Amino acid sequence: MSATSPVRPVLPPDIRARKGGAPLVVLTAYSTPVARLVDAHCDITLVGDSVGMVIHGLPSTLGVTMEMMILHGRAVVRGSQKAMPVIDMPFGSYEESPQQAFRNASRLMAETGAPSVKLEGGQHMAETIAFLTARGVPVMAHIGLTPQSVNTLGGYKVVGRADEADKVMADARAVEAAGAFSVVLEKVPEGLAGRITKALAIPTIGIGAGVDCDGQVLVVDDMLGLFTDFRPKFVKRYAELGKDANAAIAAYAAEVRSRSFPAAEHSFPDVLPAKDKT
Ligand code: KIV
Repeated sequence: MSATSPVRPVLPPDIRARKGGAPLVVLTAYSTPVARLVDAHCDITLVGDSVGMVIHGLPSTLGVTMEMMILHGRAVVRGSQKAMPVIDMPFGSYEESPQQAFRNASRLMAETGAPSVKLEGGQHMAETIAFLTARGVPVMAHIGLTPQSVNTLGGYKVVGRADEADKVMADARAVEAAGAFSVVLEKVPEGLAGRITKALAIPTIGIGAGVDCDGQVLVVDDMLGLFTDFRPKFVKRYAELGKDANAAIAAYAAEVRSRSFPAAEHSFPDVLPAKDKT
């Protein structure tokens, strides 16, 4: 960024205006260095509650707290210049009432500096989405497979086949009518995701929802090969950083044990050579 041409950060109306245009590129990030990498290439940086599983080793997203989202949200905002940070509202922070949702969404925005939040749910969250958007909280909705409901759904299943299709379409229409500026479709069959994308005036962002969505999102640790506990079908690995890191750590361990690290160039002599002032 130069003083004469400052980078203008992406905001929710910019995302909404991208409907039907070039595909929106979204990745998660949970730290400043990864947010910087994502910022250079993406439109949105999602501080997903997947942070609980990917970074904190939790078995699901249910144990994620407001404090975790604020800490990781701040780190991501610090690493973002252009791409828009979106902070996930954690399980239990918004479902009770629109007032509870506003209290926690406004806290996430005030304490992280992010301009928007994401929450899970369709028709049953429409009143809350309307309450938030009317009060200055831009909302990205998340329907289809909603991981915070894994126990009521009975697993991380595809949502929207056969009889379920009408409900997912109704969820999509409800969150749009309530004022969401975009909607994540997770593990929705590709044909249905295409029909929803055509039916809505707001962008759909797919994860396991086929190529016809207005954008795509992946968990960054999944696509970099850093999180390998399990691998959903929708994850494409663009790198194998976990394998590379394992090889690097093994090499370090072997060199420490054989005393080949540190070498002379990593050590400080007792007396400086005449020309070396370092
Ligand atoms: O928490 C998350 O990372 C998400 C994406 C998978 C959409 O919600």
